[in-house]
Amino acid sequence: MHYPLCIILTVLVFPIFSPLQANAANELHDQSVEPPSPFSSALKTLQGQINHTFQDIGLLRRAMTHASYSEENNKALSVLGTFIIETSVSLHYLRKNIDISGKDLSRRVAEISKVNSSCAVDAMRLGLHKVIRVSPKTDSSAPAVVCSGFRAIFGAVAIDTGKSDDAKKVFWYVHGSDIGRAVAL
Ligand SMILES: *[C@@H]1O[C@H](CO)[C@@H](O)[C@H](O)[C@H]1NC(C)=O
Ligand SMILES: *[C@@H]1O[C@H](CO)[C@@H](O)[C@H](O)[C@H]1NC(C)=O
Repeated sequence: MHYPLCIILTVLVFPIFSPLQANAANELHDQSVEPPSPFSSALKTLQGQINHTFQDIGLLRRAMTHASYSEENNKALSVLGTFIIETSVSLHYLRKNIDISGKDLSRRVAEISKVNSSCAVDAMRLGLHKVIRVSPKTDSSAPAVVCSGFRAIFGAVAIDTGKSDDAKKVFWYVHGSDIGRAVAL
C-alpha cells in the first residue's frame, strides 16, 4: 500500500515544484539586472549630501514628492520640518543670548524660514529642483516647491529615527554653521 503512494506523490510533486523554482530564480535574476531609476539614484546621492542614510528610504521619496505629483506627497512632512527648523534656530539664538527679545527672536526665525531669501537658497544649493517630483505643469524650481522639499527632508529624518534632534543635526549640516550665510546669499 505504501510503496505505490510514494510513487504517486513523487510524480505529482516534482512537476509542481520545478516551475516554481524556475520562476523564483528568474525573479531574483531580473531584480539584480534592472538598473536603478534616475529618481532612486538621486535619492541615494541626496542621502550623501545630507549625511543621513534612511532606514526607510520611502520617507525621503515622499519628502521629494510635491503635492502636484500625487496624493502621497510631502505636505505633512514639510509642516513638521518647518517646526524643526524654527526650533533649531530658536535654540541657537537663545543659547547664544538668553536676553534676546521675543521680537528679535521672532524676526530671526522668520528670516530663516523665508522662502525666497533662505529656504529656496538652501534647497537649490542641494539641487532639489532636479530631484523633486512634480506634475508636468509645475515648475520644480519655484521657490515654494523646492522649499516644500527642503523642509520635508527634516520631517522625514525625524520620522526615520524617531528623534527631532537627528533632524536638527541634519539641518545644521545642510544649512551651514554660519547662520547668516544663506540669508546673505
Ligand atoms: C555624518 O554622519 C555620521 C553618522 O551619523 C557622523 O558620525 C559624522 O560625524 C557626520 N559627518 C559630519 C561631517 O557631520
Ligand atoms: C519670491 O520669488 C518669486 C519668483 O522667484 C517672486 O515672484 C516673488 O515676488 C518673491 N517674493 C518675495 C517676497 O520676494
